[in-house]
Amino acid sequence: MIIKNNKDIKNMFLVSSIVKDLLLYVSKYIKPGISTGYINDKCHNKIVNYYKAYPAVLGYMNYPKSICTSINNVVCHGIPSYNCILKNGDIVNIDISIFKNKYYSDSSKMFFVGTPNINVLKLCTVTYNSIFYALKYVKNNNKINLIGENIQNYVENYGYSVVKNYCGHGIGKKLHEFPQILHYKNNYNLRMKTGMIFTIEPMVNLGNNKTYIDEDGWTVKTKDNSLSAQYEHTILVTKNGYKILTL
Ligand code: MF3
Ligand code: CO
Repeated sequence: MIIKNNKDIKNMFLVSSIVKDLLLYVSKYIKPGISTGYINDKCHNKIVNYYKAYPAVLGYMNYPKSICTSINNVVCHGIPSYNCILKNGDIVNIDISIFKNKYYSDSSKMFFVGTPNINVLKLCTVTYNSIFYALKYVKNNNKINLIGENIQNYVENYGYSVVKNYCGHGIGKKLHEFPQILHYKNNYNLRMKTGMIFTIEPMVNLGNNKTYIDEDGWTVKTKDNSLSAQYEHTILVTKNGYKILTL
């Protein structure tokens, strides 16, 4: 397990502030008629030219774009495209991973295209709140599987399901570090330690939690075509709790 020192943490707060800015920056492009390809290009240019940073997913295992854009029944890893036009009522997760000064940060959130209906609003709210419900258990020496257990309990209480095929991850000098952060009940016998940094990024479905990967080799969709929501934060474990780097 990798414990971050003060220099690591300072740098990760810095790169996280870029991710936060970008998630705010993209919000003005989320409207009917805009393509996810266009949003990708706006983000890419801002990352490279303005922040002098690198979009961590571009080229990652040959991933072809600079962000992930996952619409409606897409669970995660949606590839931005000029043919994919946002329409009124869509929900879209924008996932941004940045590399700068030798460190990574990773965050994502849902955006509403036009006005969301009440069911969509509830799915997204519950998904977001599940992170905070689990965060109550994040502190030095607590078992790491308290995160997954509490996320699963929280979302199932609302009749939703939590995706098991994808997980959160340690993050720092690599985008994906040990340990994996499962979002469901598990027997992983590991304790959180002060100075650990990892993501929590639950994917929550309106229907069941079965997923499949599209022909493009990346786009993960719900098997039953139901809506899926995801939020992601990069989290530092502290002695008495946590700090959210991407809040
Ligand atoms: N931000 C995503 C994560 O949580 C990136 C997945 S890798 C991708 O790690 F290449 F599929 F985008
Ligand atoms: Co992540």
